Order: sequence, then C-alpha cells, then structure tokens
Amino acid sequence: MARRKKIYEGKAKILYEGPEPGTIVQYFKDDATAFNAEKKDVIDGKGVLNNRLSEFFMTGLTQIGIPNHFIRRLNMREQLVRNCEIIPLEVIVRNYAAGSMSKRLGIAEGTQLPRPIVEYCFKDDALGDPLVTEEHIAAFGWASQQDMDDILSLALRVNDFLSGVMLAVGIRLVDFKIEIGRVFEGDYQRLVVADEISPDSCRLWDIKTGQKLDKDVFRRDLGSLTDAYSEVARRLGVLPASNVTKPTLIN
Ligand SMILES: Nc1ncnc2c1ncn2[C@@H]1O[C@H](COP(=O)(O)OP(=O)(O)OP(=O)(O)O)[C@@H](O)[C@H]1O
Ligand SMILES: [Mg+2]
Repeated sequence: MARRKKIYEGKAKILYEGPEPGTIVQYFKDDATAFNAEKKDVIDGKGVLNNRLSEFFMTGLTQIGIPNHFIRRLNMREQLVRNCEIIPLEVIVRNYAAGSMSKRLGIAEGTQLPRPIVEYCFKDDALGDPLVTEEHIAAFGWASQQDMDDILSLALRVNDFLSGVMLAVGIRLVDFKIEIGRVFEGDYQRLVVADEISPDSCRLWDIKTGQKLDKDVFRRDLGSLTDAYSEVARRLGVLPASNVTKPTLIN
C-alpha cells in the first residue's frame, strides 16, 4: 500500500491526506505539551482516549445540528474529518474563572461568571496565542462580521451542549477552546467546528470534589493524566475496549 502523505504534524496530532477529496485523517498522538510546549511528555494512551472523546462530542454535535468536521472514526488513534481552512483563532468559552483569565483579571479560580464569556486568541505559537478583540479580527481580515456572528453562535451552542453532557455525569465544564474551519460547498462557504474537543481543550472539574479531570493535571503535576481522562471517558460510557481494567467496555 502506498504511504499516505503527511500534511502537518502539530503538538498533539498528525494530519494525513484523506482517502477522498476534501478529507483528511487526524492521528491522535500521546504527546502532551503545556505552556506553549515548554513542558512536554509522552502520556501512554492519551491519543486513544482523545480520539474516542472527540468522536463522542462531535457526534453529539451532529445529532443536535451543530455543523462540525467529523466524518467517522477509522481506528484507535485516527479519525476521518473534512478538510477545512482553519480560521486562525482559538475560540474560548468560559463559564467559571480559571487559568489565564483568573491571572489577567484577578478573579479567584472557580468563581462563576455572570454569563458565559467568549474570548478570541490569535493562533500563533511564536507569539504565545495572544488575546485579541473583534477589532483586530476585522481589521486584519481573519474573519468577516458574518463569520464572527456565526462563530459566536457556534461557540455558545457548543457550550450549552457540552455543559449539559458533562453536568449529567457530575462534571463541571469550567471552560473550553474550539477551532473553527471553513468548508466550501460549491460557491458557498460554511463554518464548522473543527480540530478536537477533548480534555486537552476543556477544563473539567468533578462537581462534588472539585477534582481536575483535564490537562491541568499535566500542567500542574496533579497526578496521572491517563487516569483523569479515563475517568471522563468512563463516566460518558466511552472507553476503548483495550482498557480491560475499567468496568464499562463499549466498542
Ligand atoms: N478539519 C481540519 N482541517 C484542517 N486542519 C485542521 C482540521 N482540524 C484541525 N486542524 C489543524 O490541525 C492541526 C492539529 O494539530 P495539533 O492540535 O497537534 O496542532 P497544535 O500543535 O495545537 O498546533 P497549531 O494548532 O498551533 O497548529 C492544527 O493546526 C489544527 O488547526
Ligand atoms: Mg492543537
């Protein structure tokens, strides 16, 4: 079989050319990075869990009519997605203060915000993904006003969906980040949720104990990242069949 073409290798995933035009394959690696890749490690099994979890969340979005790039999972570490032109923004939705927002504004971590707050960062590792305003986005032409209206609406819908799904399994969705891609259908373009939705890109706290079940476990050396992600997967009923030590086995 001919070797497929690698398109891009990022910190957490590798992209390969897909089998059909307009598709790509996302391969989920075990690499974990934090603080703009200053901290790095290989976490056994992380890629398998994130592949499953992103599939689970994207499929849920499809079921409630929120457009996204997911087509189908191919194997333990890979999924087929629509190839998009990624808008160079990290779209962050926050329900509770944490991380950089707590630092920036001096709000204690865990404080509930008066309403969900959407922030935009310019996707540029060399600059450390700086926070930008809609003025920057419009002036530099990263997205049009129509795009921004669509992005805001997508972000808030994803927030409502994810908050509900997590609440049902006793987990608080503190915040999350998504990326948005453009897909072209004839003369039309449409915006879809792209990249991944996983504990790498969300803050998830156990509602009763406050235990962190997301990448902060790695950032802040709070224990086993695989255990944290497995716990999220277990509660959602999404565990890779290879994980024989856990009670819920769903293929
Ligand atoms: N459907 C898609 N079509 C095209 N590109 C995508 C799609 N989904 C995600 N991507 C891009 O694939 C890459 C995924 O790799 P990874 O998450 O490892 O990147 P990263 O190290 O976070 O770097 P960066 O996001 O800054 O490029 C990202 O650049 C992301 O924007
Ligand atoms: Mg990424």
